[in-house]
Amino acid sequence: MLSDEFLLKLAGEYGTPLFVYDGDMVVERYKALFNYIPYPRLRIQYALKANYNPGLLGLLRNAGAGLDTVSPGEVELALRLGFPRERIIYTANNMTDAEFRAVRETGVVMNIGSLSRLAKVAREFPGSRICLRFNPDVCDGDSAGTMTGGDLTKFGILLDAVDEVCSLVRSGNLKVVGLHEHTGSGLQHTESVFRSMENLMRIATPENFPDLEFLDFGGGFKVPYKPDEKRVDYYAMGAEIVARFNAFCRGYGRELDMLFEPGKYMVAECGHLLVEVNTIKHNRTRTIAGCNSGFPQLIRPVMYGAYHHIRNLSNPSGAPQLYDVCGNICETGDRFAEQRMLPEIREYDILSIENAGAYCYSMGGVYNLRPMPPEVVVSNGRVIARRRGLSNAQLAGMILEEMES
Ligand code: LLP
Repeated sequence: MLSDEFLLKLAGEYGTPLFVYDGDMVVERYKALFNYIPYPRLRIQYALKANYNPGLLGLLRNAGAGLDTVSPGEVELALRLGFPRERIIYTANNMTDAEFRAVRETGVVMNIGSLSRLAKVAREFPGSRICLRFNPDVCDGDSAGTMTGGDLTKFGILLDAVDEVCSLVRSGNLKVVGLHEHTGSGLQHTESVFRSMENLMRIATPENFPDLEFLDFGGGFKVPYKPDEKRVDYYAMGAEIVARFNAFCRGYGRELDMLFEPGKYMVAECGHLLVEVNTIKHNRTRTIAGCNSGFPQLIRPVMYGAYHHIRNLSNPSGAPQLYDVCGNICETGDRFAEQRMLPEIREYDILSIENAGAYCYSMGGVYNLRPMPPEVVVSNGRVIARRRGLSNAQLAGMILEEMES
């Protein structure tokens, strides 16, 4: 855990807004999974979409992690960073033919999530080794926008379609080496993890899929975002996962690899977005603390109504007051927190927006032409990787360069 003094020092040194990541925490999280889920053939495929900072990815590569990737760009970055192709899975949805071909060329295992794509693969690339993504038919997640199972989502092949799947597989002589499901992000009930596993394991019979090497149960492990939120008992969850998977393997006839693809669990809590308050405004009913970042840099509160804890690093023992913590974007909804009790905020105070490691920078954009902030990765009390971020002039220059007259 990085101390407040250290965070303030980084804010002084690199300026704000600034993303700071605790690299040691990410590696600890990765390693801890092997204690929580004591299955000898466990493989962790970090969901790169959560945070693609190359410094963090380098730490995970060295620790032995694999990757869950969802676009040709992610595959390109993973390969360039030296992740072996055998440790990468490609799970795009609604991919184009061109994307499919490009990624197939790299040798990364393709995870197919629709009957129509499966039919094309059977026709055009007979004999391919593939993974199949099924919809686990379980609805869970930390918001409607992060649930990926059930009838209302675009993801995966319905479990009911397994006979059709098998006949397409036979028609193209395809080798199905893996089956996959992902239930949602921030799963509220560990029971959902088990139910989704069971639903996938039910169709993973040697009769349907004789060539399986792994089952991949996606991501979604929840971490606390609110200070009073309880952490999942990962040991109890892991023991249950292993018991169920062992029973499955006995029935299947041999031991398979067990894969998970956590994103939030690995990186959410490692990140802080440090911002500076530049304007305090007393409206009739609200006190507004206006800061030098905005929702394009951390969109989760606006997009999902997500709670991100905020701490006033410069005045931690100020008298508590209610604030709307707002950004610098020309939109009314540009708030990191509404009616939040915080130690008195003064102009030039530095706030730390917590749990800013997952789906914050990676979902960022440059709306209002404000460049994304720099990022630093810290390990052993030192900055080990730094991403500068663009200046205003560089951002304007890039836009002009992309124009064809
Ligand atoms: N595997 C697949 C196929 C996924 O689609 C995802 C997340 C994961 C793994 C990792 O899920 P995690 O362990 O991070 O929960 N932007 C949203 C979350 C969207 C997740 C998309 N897919 C948020 O900020 O809450």
